This record gives sequence, structure tokens and C-alpha cells, in this order.
Amino acid sequence: MLTIQDIATFCKKKGFIYASAEIYGGLAGFFDYGPLGVELKNNIKNNWWKTFVQDREDVVGIDGSIITNPMVWKASGHVDSFADILIECKKCRFRTKANQLIEEILNMDVGGLQPKAIDKIIKENRISCPKCKGNFGPSLKFNLMFKTGIGPVEPITSYLRPETAQLIFTNFKLVAENSRLKLPFGIAQIGKAYRNEISPRDFLFRVREFEQMEIEFFTHPEKYDDCPFTKEVQNMKINLLTAEMQEKGKKEAKQTTIKELITKNIANKWHAYWLAISYKWFTDLGINPKNLRLREHSQKELAHYASACFDIDYKYPFGWKELLGNADRKQFDLQQHIQFSKKDLSLFDEETKQKIIPYVASEPSLGVDRTFLTFLIDAYNDDKKRGNIVLKLHPNLAPIKAGIFPLVNKLDKEAKNIFNDLKKDFTCQFDKSGSIGRRYARADEIGIPYCITVDFDSPKKKDVTIRDRDTTKQIRVKIKDLKEIFKKLINQEIKFEKAGKLIK
Ligand code: GAP
Repeated sequence: MLTIQDIATFCKKKGFIYASAEIYGGLAGFFDYGPLGVELKNNIKNNWWKTFVQDREDVVGIDGSIITNPMVWKASGHVDSFADILIECKKCRFRTKANQLIEEILNMDVGGLQPKAIDKIIKENRISCPKCKGNFGPSLKFNLMFKTGIGPVEPITSYLRPETAQLIFTNFKLVAENSRLKLPFGIAQIGKAYRNEISPRDFLFRVREFEQMEIEFFTHPEKYDDCPFTKEVQNMKINLLTAEMQEKGKKEAKQTTIKELITKNIANKWHAYWLAISYKWFTDLGINPKNLRLREHSQKELAHYASACFDIDYKYPFGWKELLGNADRKQFDLQQHIQFSKKDLSLFDEETKQKIIPYVASEPSLGVDRTFLTFLIDAYNDDKKRGNIVLKLHPNLAPIKAGIFPLVNKLDKEAKNIFNDLKKDFTCQFDKSGSIGRRYARADEIGIPYCITVDFDSPKKKDVTIRDRDTTKQIRVKIKDLKEIFKKLINQEIKFEKAGKLIK
């Protein structure tokens, strides 16, 4: 069975991810992206931005600063409430996140419980330190924000942002006015976020520095159920685990439709719509639907700002865990910023001629790094027949789109011409070392979807072979048509077998 350690080892070996500053022993919760990693990460971000911002008329983007006025974090509730519960072993001083340890030992969800209740569970169940079997001291709340000092003398204390969302709220009025946006509309952002996690773990899954891709979707406060796109998504199938099912002890999600989510009043229409299209984004990019589920948060689990929340969970090698969160934040954030900044953040409603405070019906929020990890795990195939790993990444996400191989050295020039032409539009790799089988295997391992081989017939017949990574099928294509065909293959606009003459 695939383990998270297998993925971490693979990522280092192939140049996707390194422990940050490994020569100094690294630093827990921090990672660096290598040459292939940065390409895959950029492809994920670009694809998300294109799908949810550029291709839509109702969403615009911003790029806010990482350190901002500390009042933002006071108003948002992060200074007072953005904390996890820490427990420390009295004997060996091992520190860990209480709910994580309880969850692992008792298989019990204790999200949202206060320190006193946590201490009671630890005592009643005689939970001891996993390192030395010592007893834990009383649990305490630990704020996850990284503090920093700004300015040289008597520095002002501020924080590295723990989420990108707040900069969307603070800029909300300016963006709405500049972009002449009418409700409903969304504001999106991709950027770094920092959390001083008590126990960073599971490779990229829980880290201290990461990137988020977030959208705040604002509606009229009375029209969060007024979604014109419901019809487009209502028949979509999803695996659903409701709060009620969890309360009854059920662990298996049930296949249902988005329509059911709405008709059974589990989610409002805008919330359901954004959950549907986020779910679809993952499956369109190749994630196996069997590995996804939608999980509703119970009331006690909700974050301080949320009135309803769903996670899109993925089945990781270490269990089902949150990949994306989407909360209904109502008017919480805008109201808080109005109160703390004393600025008017309302919009004028032409219909009622009244000022309104928009309602955040949906906040799709996902970590880039966690998404990266998920795509890698889902694509990772240890192909025993081929004797190598085949990384079946969607062609749009693949860090390198084409491998170009001259069969022998004297075909270098022809192959280089093709490489130089294709690399104007696609990331390509020229590889002439080793047997052709070895070169295919190397390409499979880093997820190159198509390999182009220039062979002895190529100079005469002016054609080349394209090999499909997932099936190993090969087609013959004229060099003059190569670029056009290649573009269609990458965009999945043509079936591989139909793209050229199939070699039997
Ligand atoms: N603005 C809402 C918000 O930040 P969240 O559930 O705390 O909500 C959203 O975070 C997403 O950010 C998560 O679903 C996850 O993908 C990612 N994320 C959060 N903490 C993370 C961490 N420590 N390491 C990696 N990704 C993280």
C-alpha cells in the first residue's frame, strides 16, 4: 500500500519537493519546490485561476499583502479565537495537538471542544504520551498566528496572515466599486498563508507555510438561495456524509445528487453550486471520484466565523481528510470590519434603494500544496508490468508536456528542430541518453503525457511517433501537423487513437 513516505521519497528523487534548506537539516513544516514541483504547482494555480476567475463574468481577483494592519486580525477574530489545543507531556515535554492524538487513539471526533472537556477525555481514557508513556499536563489554547515586529524601534506587532480571505473583506468595497460589480459576485485570491501548526505532519498535508486559493462569494443578504446556475449542476453525483449521518456513527458516504443537497435543505443554492463546481474541478482534472466525498461539519465543529461548512475530503494514504473547505460566513466578516474600522462597507441596492451588507454564501478555500499532494497521490501508479512508476497526471497539469527523443545520435538535428519549435508553446524535455525504453520509463515517472520519437523513417517520411503515457499506444503523425495535433491532445480535444495513424 502506498504510504505518504513513498510519495515524499519519490518527490525528492524526481525534483518535485525538498525539505526546506535540507543541508541544514530542514525545518518542520517548511518545504521547497524543485524544478518539476514548481511547474506542477504553477499549472494547478493557473488552471484554478482560469476556471474560477478568468472564465467567469462574476469573479475578479486581487493579490493582498502577507503582513497587514494588525487590526484586521483583531476584527476577524483570529487574535482571540484562531487557536488549537496543545498538550504537553510532563515527563519528556513532547507537545502535540490534542484533538489529533485523541482522534488517532479513540477514533473520535473532538473538534471544537474546549480545554476542560479535552482534559476530561484524556483523564477518563488514560491517554498517555505516545513517546514515553508519561502523563500530559493540562491542555491549553495555542494561537496559530506567527507574530512579527514591524519597524526598527519599538516595533508594532502584527502577524503573517493565516488565511488570504481577510484581505478580500478589507478591500471589498474598493474592488466592488472599481470593477463596477453588482451582487452576486466573487473576489478571488491566490497567495501565501502561515500557521504555526503544533504538529505539522504528513508531508505537504499540514505545513506551516502554504498557499491558498480562495473565493469569497457575496450575495444580497436575502438572495443566497437565488442561484441561476442550479440547473447546470443539480444532477451531478457526489458522495455525501451529512452531519446527521456522522452523529449516527456512520462513516461511509452515500452517493447522492446536488439536487438532494438543496431539496433536503442541507445547503443553500449558492453554497451547493460552489461545492458542485469545486468537486467537478477535481474530477475534471483526473481525480478518481471514488476518492472524494463531501462532508458536512457538525455545529460544534464550525469555525468562529461560519454558520455552515462543508469539506471536500480526499482518501489519503493516512485516511479521509479535508482537501477543500467551503463555509457559509454570512455577514460575519464585513460586519466585524465595519465595527472595527468604523468604515461603511455596505453596498447600495438599486431595487430597494437601501444600503445592504452583502452575505458570503460560499467561501471555497483550498491549499495549493495540499491540492498538489492530492493530484500526485491520485496520479501515482506503481506499474509492475512496466517495472516503473507511471505518474498519470492530467496533461494540463503535467509539469512537462512532451519528451522528444532522437532514436540515435545522428537524428539529433531533426529532433532538436522539433524540440525548439514545440518548446515555444509547451514545456518540453529533450532526452537522448539511454535506450528508448529507459527514456520512456523516465518520462512516465515524471508524468510526461506524450513522447515524440524521431526514428530512421522520420527524415524521409517527414513524420514522427507519439507515444501515449497511459496506454503506451503509439501513433504516427506528420511533422508539419505535430504542433496542432499536440495542442489538441494536451487540451483533451481529440482521442489519442484518432490523432494519427495507429501503429499496430
Ligand atoms: N478562509 C478559510 C480557511 O482558511 P481553512 O479550512 O482553515 O479555511 C482552507 O483552510 C484550506 O487551506 C484547507 O482546506 C487546506 O486545503 C488548506 N490548509 C489549511 N491549513 C493548512 C496547513 N497547515 N497546511 C496545508 N494546507 C492547509
